[in-house]
Amino acid sequence: GNKIRNAKLVLLGDVGTGKSSLVLRFVKGQFVEFQESTIGAAFFSQTLAVNDETVKFEIWDTAGQERYHSLAPMYYRGAAAAIVVYDITNAASFTRAKKWVQELQAQGNPNTIMALAGNKADLLEARQVPAEEAKTYAQENGLFFMETSAKAATNVNDIFHEIAKRLLQG
Ligand code: GTP
Ligand code: MG
Repeated sequence: GNKIRNAKLVLLGDVGTGKSSLVLRFVKGQFVEFQESTIGAAFFSQTLAVNDETVKFEIWDTAGQERYHSLAPMYYRGAAAAIVVYDITNAASFTRAKKWVQELQAQGNPNTIMALAGNKADLLEARQVPAEEAKTYAQENGLFFMETSAKAATNVNDIFHEIAKRLLQG
């Protein structure tokens, strides 16, 4: 007990899917409607206790804008965990998420725990990506899947908690 495990975690995904909002919700318990687009990447850290152990997440919140794509390997290299984020109201962002998964599988560390987050789950009436489709994709590609809402605080702590549990098991 009482050991602290450091874990580098990276968030990847299309512009505007809510990567920064998920981190802000997890780290500060806050949400802002007019979150600014990330430039380059932003760093946060947050600890999470699981049973009698503590995971200290070192979180790299990357920028989704395509012009920053070439920076991404710096952030996912050596990462213990990755959260690939899409927006359930934006089918193109799901296509982009699958591209990120392919890149991680080709270039990343094979032991990286990968989560797929279908964010903005509060906007059900605007849904474009069926949950079943994402769930099947995740199962076939070795990710675990949750729909999240940074706005409504749905499944945000849960996704980090699930990652921490898997880290401590591995
Ligand atoms: P980049 O940094 O440009 O890659 O974007 P990002 O993925 O960090 O997205 P960001 O967190 O900046 O959120 C983009 C917009 O979506 C902001 O206006 C947020 O308020 C909004 N948003 C984020 N998460 C949610 C959510 O769960 N529900 C709703 N309704 N809006 C959200
Ligand atoms: Mg951002």
